[in-house]
Amino acid sequence: MNIIKLNLILFIVSILLSGNGFAIEACIYSKTADNTEIKPPLQQALGDEAFNKAMASGQYAYTGNAKCRLCHRDFFLGRKGDVHDHAYENLVASAPENADNTRCLTCHTTGHGVKTGFKSMKKTPRLANVQCEGCHGPGNIHIKRQVTKMPSGGVSQRDKNSKEVAGGFLAGTDKPEILRKMCTSCHTKRWSSGTYNLDNDYNSYKTAKPDKDKRNP
Ligand code: HEC
Ligand code: HEC
Ligand code: HEC
Ligand code: HEC
Repeated sequence: MNIIKLNLILFIVSILLSGNGFAIEACIYSKTADNTEIKPPLQQALGDEAFNKAMASGQYAYTGNAKCRLCHRDFFLGRKGDVHDHAYENLVASAPENADNTRCLTCHTTGHGVKTGFKSMKKTPRLANVQCEGCHGPGNIHIKRQVTKMPSGGVSQRDKNSKEVAGGFLAGTDKPEILRKMCTSCHTKRWSSGTYNLDNDYNSYKTAKPDKDKRNP
């Protein structure tokens, strides 16, 4: 049986078996055979030139959100209930045969396809799901900016209100147009359930605990 027929059957079965989720299920099964290139969201948001330049500098690296937790406890805890923080787990639960499918990991993990990003659950478990850096980009430079090197060789943490502490992200809050493109790079037409609304949803992420009740009435 060829793959197209198989997909068609799975598509029909998925409609029969499921209620609300069927559009997504249908998408998965009808498109797994599709082999068009999927660029990492960060590359799409920045554009090839800026992305290649940033990566060639060798300065950017993903750290994982355990580091962010040290100073952004409110955001870290607030995101525990957000779907992004479960995007890989949900992928594996709904479609276990795709746990290592690079065509799914790009949007269901942090930084897959970028040099220091997610590779596999075995190699990089700390970057599973769409974490902070999945939207804001690699965080190592931001974290470095938080400390000042002392003449003695030691380090001291900068004042929280200092202008120098924020920033360092490729898709930080100082670049809202790029951050919006991060959303649309993953939330393509194909991967939209209908409840997603870029303007409302973007604004909900300004707070530590995005209001999911507002999104799913
Ligand atoms: C271009 C980015 C992108 C790719 C590639 C992608 N997904 Fe997704 N996926 C999404 C987005 C965005 C959503 C959420 C859609 C929504 O609810 O509006 C989603 C939702 C899902 C859901 C529903 C989760 C739930 O809890 O209901 C499943 C299952 C899923 N994807 C599986 C897959 C599989 C399997 C693949 C690989 C064949 C894949 N995805 C590839 C972006 C992507
Ligand atoms: C789904 C994408 C997404 C994820 C995941 C995400 N953020 Fe954000 N974040 C945003 C958006 C959008 C804004 C608002 C940007 C703006 O003001 O234009 C924002 C704003 C912020 C701000 C600034 C808030 C303020 O007061 O201005 C901080 C701090 C922040 N995020 C930290 C985090 C941390 C820490 C995590 C992980 C625990 C995280 N974010 C995960 C999208 C995201
Ligand atoms: C050592 C402390 C520290 C760590 C670790 C840290 N941050 Fe921050 N971050 C700050 C401070 C201080 C600010 C500026 C004040 C504020 O917005 O809370 C800030 C601001 C931000 C902002 C808003 C300003 C901007 O540039 O967009 C975002 C987004 C952010 N952090 C995300 C993160 C993420 C993601 C991580 C993990 C990769 C992280 N932070 C790790 C201390 C830290
Ligand atoms: C790296 C890819 C990626 C990025 C970047 C991303 N998302 Fe998502 N988003 C997903 C995936 C995957 C899901 C589905 C997770 C699941 O259900 O398990 C999702 C789910 C959502 C949902 C829930 C959908 C629903 O129907 O309830 C909203 C809302 C959302 N994203 C908004 C945003 C916004 C706003 C941004 C930008 C600030 C953004 N996302 C950035 C991948 C991404």
